Amino acid sequence: MRNLLRSFHNLPIRSKLILSFLAVIVVSGVIILFIGTRLEHRTIMSLAESKVSHDLASAWMVYNEKISSIRDIVRLSAGREFLQDYFRSGGRPDLEKKLDGIRREYSLDILTLVDRRGGVILRARSPEAAGDDQSHDPYVQRALQKQSIAGTQIIPREELLKEGSDLAARAYFEFIPTAMAAERPENHEENGMMLKAASPVTDDRGDVLGVLYGGVLFNRNYEIVDRVKDIVFKGEKYKDKDIGTATIFQGDLRIATNVLDDRGDRAVGTRVSREVNQAVLGEGRAWVGRAFVVTHWYITAYEPIKAVDGAIIGMLYVGMLEKPYIDLRNKLMGTFGLLAGLSMVFLLGLLAFIAANITRPLREMVVAANKIARGDLTHRVRIRMGDEIGQLGAAFNQMTEDLRNANENLTQWGRTLEKRVEERTQELREAEDQLIRSEKLASLGKMASGVAHEINNPLTSILINASLMLETCGDGHAFLEPLTMISEETTRCAQIVKGLLEFARQTPAQIAPADINDVIERTAQLIEMQASVRNVKIIKALDTSLPQIELDKNKIRQVFSNLMINAIEAMPTGGTLTITSRLNGNGRQVEILFADTGVGIPPENIQKLFDPFFTTKSFGTGLGLAVSYGIVQQRGGTIDVKSEVGRGSVFTVKLPLEEQGGEFFSQGEAHYD
Ligand SMILES: Nc1ncnc2c1ncn2[C@@H]1O[C@H](COP(=O)(O)OP(=O)(O)OP(=O)(O)O)[C@@H](O)[C@H]1O
Ligand SMILES: [Mg+2]
Repeated sequence: MRNLLRSFHNLPIRSKLILSFLAVIVVSGVIILFIGTRLEHRTIMSLAESKVSHDLASAWMVYNEKISSIRDIVRLSAGREFLQDYFRSGGRPDLEKKLDGIRREYSLDILTLVDRRGGVILRARSPEAAGDDQSHDPYVQRALQKQSIAGTQIIPREELLKEGSDLAARAYFEFIPTAMAAERPENHEENGMMLKAASPVTDDRGDVLGVLYGGVLFNRNYEIVDRVKDIVFKGEKYKDKDIGTATIFQGDLRIATNVLDDRGDRAVGTRVSREVNQAVLGEGRAWVGRAFVVTHWYITAYEPIKAVDGAIIGMLYVGMLEKPYIDLRNKLMGTFGLLAGLSMVFLLGLLAFIAANITRPLREMVVAANKIARGDLTHRVRIRMGDEIGQLGAAFNQMTEDLRNANENLTQWGRTLEKRVEERTQELREAEDQLIRSEKLASLGKMASGVAHEINNPLTSILINASLMLETCGDGHAFLEPLTMISEETTRCAQIVKGLLEFARQTPAQIAPADINDVIERTAQLIEMQASVRNVKIIKALDTSLPQIELDKNKIRQVFSNLMINAIEAMPTGGTLTITSRLNGNGRQVEILFADTGVGIPPENIQKLFDPFFTTKSFGTGLGLAVSYGIVQQRGGTIDVKSEVGRGSVFTVKLPLEEQGGEFFSQGEAHYD
């Protein structure tokens, strides 16, 4: 059960809806079917019962008609003249013949004439049995009081015998054992039940002369029951069986009937069920309902037959086969069931449609959620209705939109971050480069100054000796040329050594406030000659509002001179050197730019420019920029290069206004000269 419930919980909403509705439909369908069939059954049965009650009333009419016809026969016969003649004359020549003629003509079983005291004058059926007294008979008594009377009466066997032994034999029944019948001590019936009428025979003055009574014995007389069947049920049949049946009971015994037993004979001699016996004979009320009659179920109606004194002496019954009604009911129920089934199928279809419609947005949302999970934030749910699902869809779309915005911001931020990281990495790399360069320069400087110091003295003695030897050699001497070469090359070596020592020199800076424009002017003056020889024009664009700046004037002059000479040397066929000074970096540093229109520097050399001994010149030492860089860095500044091959280069020296203290040579105290 729990598993069942769990698997129900795991079903898609659509299936859940369908199953729940299905349960409701099936349960209500079953209830409606149950109530419907019950109602149908009841309606059909009560219809059948009211019909059978109605049929019983019709049967009574047939019965009563028979009574009144007998009454009329007897009354009219009692008024016949031959009877008055008989009493007046006392003779009976034609009496017997005439009475029996009437009896036969009207199919009476008995017709009897009684005198004024009740003594039997003549029995038309049995002329020899006369003379007995009938004054005790209630019909005779009433007729003697000048009344015509008719009704049903039980006739004892001895009276029947008087009318003829065949009549007594007709009335006699051995009981056929019937399962449902009430217990009775006797096992046969010997009395008869008769429709009887009596009328007075009067003279002209109206005085009673005698009584004429006659009757029809019901036992084994099927006239009335068959007439009821013909008139009421019109001989209708269902599957070769009479639908309608009628029976006259003497007490509980069937004495005239058209109910057939299983052999197809009339089921006379059988008895009514205990239940009906009790209700109709015992309590004197009508009984209507379903009853098992001899061989089949019938819808039946029973009412008591009463004697003139009101005593219950028998029953009148009509019954209809239940089968046609049951079949009708089954057919109706079948139709009803079919209709119910069809409407269930229709409802189910409708249900599936509705469920699909209700859950479609949800399914779309699942699809959308999957798409979003895979990263497609542009997907939107279609909103059809304004109900909760619609609201959910709107909220879902809003959520996706927010998610998309957040994602975009995040991407944007990521990009910015990336850029920042790149910038920072670049800065770090530059700082690292500077550091490496500084360290390289520091160790190189130490080594170079050591070597220079050791070489300086031998060089000096070579130079002095070479000079002395030159002085002693006169013109045309064979050693004059070699000695001149020794002297020149040695001088060049000494220059290199001097440069090395300069590069390595770690003299403490002589810091004092200085006008940077003034430093530029003085340096330019020194190289003006050289420039004009080389056809280089120097243009100065100096910002005169620059503040004084703390620096070592001599060292900075050396830097400027190096840069200016480099520029001039880069313009072998002449050009322009533009020197600019200005305030920059939000007013926190001074920039001095040396822009030439020279040959430019190929990109692969840019990195190596500041390395010691990097030179492209045959006469150069490659120390100029290395030394300058060291000086500017010691002051806390930098040198940048921008160059384009064939167009020129710009060297920019940046000096912070507030001295920051460089790293170059700041730690070593060694001083080499
Ligand atoms: N303004 C410039 N234009 C083109 N190339 C330059 C310029 N300044 C420097 N260089 C290049 O940088 C190299 C290094 O310059 P650096 O001043 O250090 O040494 P040098 O000028 O070669 O020798 P030295 O300065 O000892 O005479 C030069 O050989 C030259 O190739
Ligand atoms: Mg140089």
